[in-house]
Amino acid sequence: MKDQYNRKINYMRISITDLCNLRCLYCMPEKGIDHKKKHEDMLSFEEITEIAKVAATLGVDKIRVTGGEPLVKKGIVDFIGNLSKIDGIKDIAVTTNGILLKDYAKDLKKAGLKRVNISIDSLKPEKYAEITRGGNVNKVLDGIQEVIRLGMTPVKLNVVVIGGHNEDEVEDFVKLTMDDDIEVRFIELMPIGEAGNWAKHRFISNEKIKKMIGNLVPLAHHTSSPAKYYKLPGAKGKVGFINPISSHFCGECNRIRMTSDGKLKPCLHSDAEIDILNIVRNDSSRLKEVLEEAMFAKPQQHYLLAEDYQLGKRNMSEIGG
Ligand code: GTP
Ligand code: 5AD
Ligand code: SF4
Repeated sequence: MKDQYNRKINYMRISITDLCNLRCLYCMPEKGIDHKKKHEDMLSFEEITEIAKVAATLGVDKIRVTGGEPLVKKGIVDFIGNLSKIDGIKDIAVTTNGILLKDYAKDLKKAGLKRVNISIDSLKPEKYAEITRGGNVNKVLDGIQEVIRLGMTPVKLNVVVIGGHNEDEVEDFVKLTMDDDIEVRFIELMPIGEAGNWAKHRFISNEKIKKMIGNLVPLAHHTSSPAKYYKLPGAKGKVGFINPISSHFCGECNRIRMTSDGKLKPCLHSDAEIDILNIVRNDSSRLKEVLEEAMFAKPQQHYLLAEDYQLGKRNMSEIGG
């Protein structure tokens, strides 16, 4: 289906939980989110699957499962299995912090999962623990090796560059692309949620990172991905740049989001939300109409850099990035 600006919407990002086993500086408050929501305020896996089936009839063929951290949610493997049986869904992926990946990768693959994107902002144990407030990077590295071993490639690594924290690791991340089918993607820090007030002071543009790396060869651009890709000469993997700030990709946006408490979000950076929790529970014959309404309502672009931009109400951990 097309939105009001004639963009084809075929990609649904579904956050299945706002809980996480880490507390990244830019994503969650130190004490975790103030979790007042009750179990019944959250969509169940059955409800999400029912909504996804209707979305597929509207042309959604790609689903990304996000969080919080999706792998902390009980029943995730069967849920992925059920999503993969939906007619019309060609691509299912998960964005994870990778801490539990080694334990889950095999079962997830068996259930139909094709790919994982792994968030990892440092390769150094102390620095990783600082950014994630206590995480163990070795678990993530083991998870990455496991998905490579299982052939769930390309493995995409998301690296948010935070000034003063990890820009000195750019070269180490890029080196990972030499021998494995890994895409290292540098993401510009966005002023959203926790990072709302300090992202500007810590921002480093991807243009600068690209210059730091130097000898990159540009590759053809796939419009379905927000990343622009390059390669180091002779490398097996790729280096990508996701530039939501310096050159936003809204003109090619193909996505709609759903939060774990049952709200459709036409745009990551807008507070506009459309309730779907009550619809799936009490008025399911209207699911199609409500999904259409949300897809159609996508704003033309984000206004993060506008003078009068108002910080959104939700943390990134609730929206799923
Ligand atoms: P692929 O399909 O594998 O290319 O995944 P993806 O890049 O769509 O998903 P991922 O979850 O790995 O997100 C990567 C980064 O892009 C994260 O920092 C997201 O917050 C950001 N991102 C994803 N979708 C959007 C979007 O619609 N708008 C903006 N501004 N940023 C987004
Ligand atoms: N700016 C840029 N990327 C972010 N992510 C979370 N918060 C931000 C932010 N403020 C990234 C995570 C994850 C992806 C889904 O979103 O690192 O890889
Ligand atoms: Fe799409 Fe909004 Fe992200 Fe722009 S900011 S790419 S419109 S979700």
